Amino acid sequence: MARRLTVLGTGYLGTTHAACMAELGFEVLGVDVDADRIAALSAGRLPFYEPDLEPLLQRGLASGRLRFTTSFQEAADFGDVHFCCVGTPQGSESGGADLSQLHGCIDALAPLLTRPCLVVGKSTTPAGTAAQLAERLAGLAGPEVELAWNPEFLREGHAVADTLRPERIVAGVRSAAAEAILREVYAEPLAAGVPFVVTDFATAELVKVAANAFLATKISFINAMAEVCEAAGADVTSLAQALAYDHRIGGAGMRPGLGFGGGCLPKDIRAFRTRAQELGAGEAVSFLASVDTINTRRRTRMVELARELAGGTLAGRTVGVLGLAFKPDSDDIRDSPALDVAMALHRDGARVVAYDPAAVERAREAHPELEYAGSVLGAAADADVLLVLTEWPEFTQADPELIGKAVAQRNVADGRGALDPAAWRAAGWTYRALGRPAV
Ligand code: UGA
Repeated sequence: MARRLTVLGTGYLGTTHAACMAELGFEVLGVDVDADRIAALSAGRLPFYEPDLEPLLQRGLASGRLRFTTSFQEAADFGDVHFCCVGTPQGSESGGADLSQLHGCIDALAPLLTRPCLVVGKSTTPAGTAAQLAERLAGLAGPEVELAWNPEFLREGHAVADTLRPERIVAGVRSAAAEAILREVYAEPLAAGVPFVVTDFATAELVKVAANAFLATKISFINAMAEVCEAAGADVTSLAQALAYDHRIGGAGMRPGLGFGGGCLPKDIRAFRTRAQELGAGEAVSFLASVDTINTRRRTRMVELARELAGGTLAGRTVGVLGLAFKPDSDDIRDSPALDVAMALHRDGARVVAYDPAAVERAREAHPELEYAGSVLGAAADADVLLVLTEWPEFTQADPELIGKAVAQRNVADGRGALDPAAWRAAGWTYRALGRPAV
């Protein structure tokens, strides 16, 4: 008989996992403490922007395989496998992870479990958390309930494809039975050749944070080169292109620009440092402090570039900002470099008019002090400087001639190296970009 799955926590990760598992043919119950969110999901409405996910959600609901509830009792009665997908944000005091949602989830579910089942952690956690949770689970639920750790590697904007066909599945398990259940759940991607790596708990947890630490390091490496390029009058775009031909280096995930943001990479490298220090291995990952500061320096440099283009001061200048989300195909503004820059410009006295194809509402809620436009031309209207801070195709394919007619002065700063400098310069724009010569 097919296993019945629950997914605890219906954020980006949980909602995607629930809809994809229903798509793979499982009966799935999504659980969250947020009643409004559960109501929206039950009505087939996605409470965030993620391409391709809403049709999957609606298909799952229509098939009857996918349902949502706020009841942990219902989840405990229903599930053979419980996926724990709650958030582990940055703790407020230190850089360490805040595990309260995870503890809350286990504490709410475990005492209600009366049948044999597997609880599977997918949240990103400091090494050692899974082992502690296993003990807690054993205390609260008894020997028929086992824990496994199965980190998630999906990227926002590609969440559905990354879940249905991940690059690898990592299974941190303590028994052959737990491994067998995970193999059954992921039978379809495994049959399609997706690698399955079986590890202990701590390794599974570390694979996730090590992967994000590496991705962040790659981005900060190329952005450090951008700083050197600026000093040497060189061009980081050509440099990155030339480096990418070396297959040992590669170009994927090494695009220079405004750097990384979002709800994962920044908090994960900080939590990793904190945990490594606690373990006495802080020295080994001390370089992550540089990765972090290189990253935030790009934001400062972007503001400087805007100031230079504005003639030395931002006070009283109008700046059009294209992009608010931390990356394209997302409405996520958590630690968004684009929004951070927009706020810094505002603090420096500029009149900021911002537009993003998906993130305006979220940004307006968080920062009502900025002005928002409903289109590229709206954000460009009367601007002394135009900034491109998120590489949405709507911006990279925009016509510089047309936008030129809307602005007060044809000054553009490209924060993502995403525009064609020749085309913009030919249309009479002063084009500047991070890591590229002024010319
Ligand atoms: C990241 C990882 O890529 C996923 O594998 C991981 O599962 C996820 O975190 C997570 O921990 O949940 P995500 O935050 O969705 O995924 O976004 P990325 O596509 O990795 O981009 C992160 C940031 O880096 C964005 O702000 C992006 O603009 C920036 N970036 C990315 C660059 O500046 N240059 C690049 O070459 C790539």
